[in-house]
This record gives sequence, structure tokens and C-alpha cells, in this order.
Amino acid sequence: MRPGQPRHYLMCRPTYFTVSYEINPWMDRRTPVDTPLAVAQWERLRDTYRDLGHVVETIEPVAGLPDMVYAANGATVVDGLVYSARFTHPERAPEGPAYLKWFADHGYVTHLAEHVNEGEGDLLVAGDVVLAGTGFRTDRAAHAEAAALWDREVVTLELVDPRFYHLDTALTVLRGNDGGAPPDGAHPALAGGGVDVAYFPPAFSPAAQEVLRERFPDALLATEEDAVVLGLNAVSDGTHVVHAPRAERFAAALRERGYETLGVDTSELLRGGGGAKCCTLEIREPAGARAAHPG
Ligand code: ARG
Repeated sequence: MRPGQPRHYLMCRPTYFTVSYEINPWMDRRTPVDTPLAVAQWERLRDTYRDLGHVVETIEPVAGLPDMVYAANGATVVDGLVYSARFTHPERAPEGPAYLKWFADHGYVTHLAEHVNEGEGDLLVAGDVVLAGTGFRTDRAAHAEAAALWDREVVTLELVDPRFYHLDTALTVLRGNDGGAPPDGAHPALAGGGVDVAYFPPAFSPAAQEVLRERFPDALLATEEDAVVLGLNAVSDGTHVVHAPRAERFAAALRERGYETLGVDTSELLRGGGGAKCCTLEIREPAGARAAHPG
């Protein structure tokens, strides 16, 4: 799979989006949520993906599950194998089975997780490995469970700043997130193998920072300014990066690196503590099978 080739995404319209409980520092019940605005921003995000040629499918939102819009948390799909989510907080618990049912109904091979994990919020594919967050939500035991399921190396990264409670708020996989083999021809503007990442170092424990430095010596290091607008909660297809427009420095650094940047405002969805990536679950088919889906 080469950068910029069509991706397959699952999203959930924020029909019932609101902030009725607080499980991360971004959420504040006192400020009313403009749900129609959230829906309009979500539609714009969906249309941006479609305009880029990606396939976007949707799951029916469930009343009473306001965070279901954050589809990235619903599951993690690698090589067509679906690892279900198991949520930390009881408020979100029913989302796991709802997403799992969608995948089962669409003919995917599913695995019901034994350990707490919040899907792609904490499990990010980077080439042939999976980067895995822990510290706030996903249990370390889930990292081992996922490694066994996909027969892939899973690299544990400890998160330490509550504002960046999920790995996808602190790190973006810019290239290599499709889980396929690294492209033969790397992006012309980029040196190195098939993986490129950006991250905000202070969100990670010293040990995790060391792992990241070693694995990704050429990574793009984001500033606090970009991180606090959830700039790193971006979606890349290897060529285009969809990001929070307020992350201006991050966008400039990406363009310098050869990416095309598309700012899409998801400010109303930030009220729940999520951005573009949180709203986007990537479906990765087994190598060679992509053209056969979606069903
Ligand atoms: N309110 C949600 C929570 O705290 C936001 C989830 C954001 N999703 C993500 N992939 N980071 O669980």
C-alpha cells in the first residue's frame, strides 16, 4: 500500500454528542455543547476523507452513548482481525459491544478482548509494529493480548500527562499506519524507511521517550502549543494529513516534510477531548484483500 492510496474508515455521526460526564481534563459539563455544530464539523471531516478518495462507512449512533462519535476507540483492526475495545470507564462500556457487532455483521473476524483497551486511541499501527499507550486507559496486559492476536511486535509507551490520556493525542503516525509493508518508493520528500511519526515528548515517561528516540530518530517533535490544541490527533494517509487548524506550527512543519496539510475544524468535538483521529477508525484488510471490501 503506497502513501495516498485509498483508506477504509469507520465513523459515527455525533447525533447524541454532549458532555454529560467528565472522564478527561477536556470535558466540562457546565458549558453547553452545540450538538448541531458538532454534527456539521463531523460531516465536513467525513467529506474531506471522501474527497481524498477514501472509503468512509458509518456505524449507527446509540442514544445515551455521547462519546461513541470517537470511533477510534471502538476497536483496532489489523490484517482484517478485529480486536475489540474494553473501556476503562463504565459510561463508555457499551460502546465496545456496539462496535464489535458492526464488525461481526460486516463479516470480519473478531476477537473479544479480555483486557482493558480503548482501541486505536492507544494502539497505533506503525509499519509492522504496533505502538501501544498505557498509563491512563489501556492496560499493559492488553498490549500482550494484541501482540498474540496479530502476531506483531507491540511496543509499550507510558503516558504521563492527563491532557494526553490516549496515545493518539500525543503521537501521530504519518506514514506506515496502514499496516502494510513499507512502500518500495518512500515519499520523495522523505528519507528513511516506511514509517514516519510525530509526537510530543513530554507526554511520555522518560523510558518511553527513550524508546521513541531510538526507534524514530528522525521523528517530528511537536511543540506544546500544537499539542494542547490536539494537533497530534491528526489523520494521515501517507500523503495528506488532516489536522486541527489551530496547530499551525505543526502544519508548517508537516509541509516542510513533504506532506499536504488539510485543516478541518473539530473544535466542538474537542469539548469531549477528541479531534479528527479520535473520530476515525481505520479498517486494515489483510494484504491483497483491500479491493474486495467493503461489503
Ligand atoms: N471523551 C472521550 C474519553 O475521554 C474522548 C475520547 C477521545 N478519543 C481518542 N481516540 N483519543 O474517553
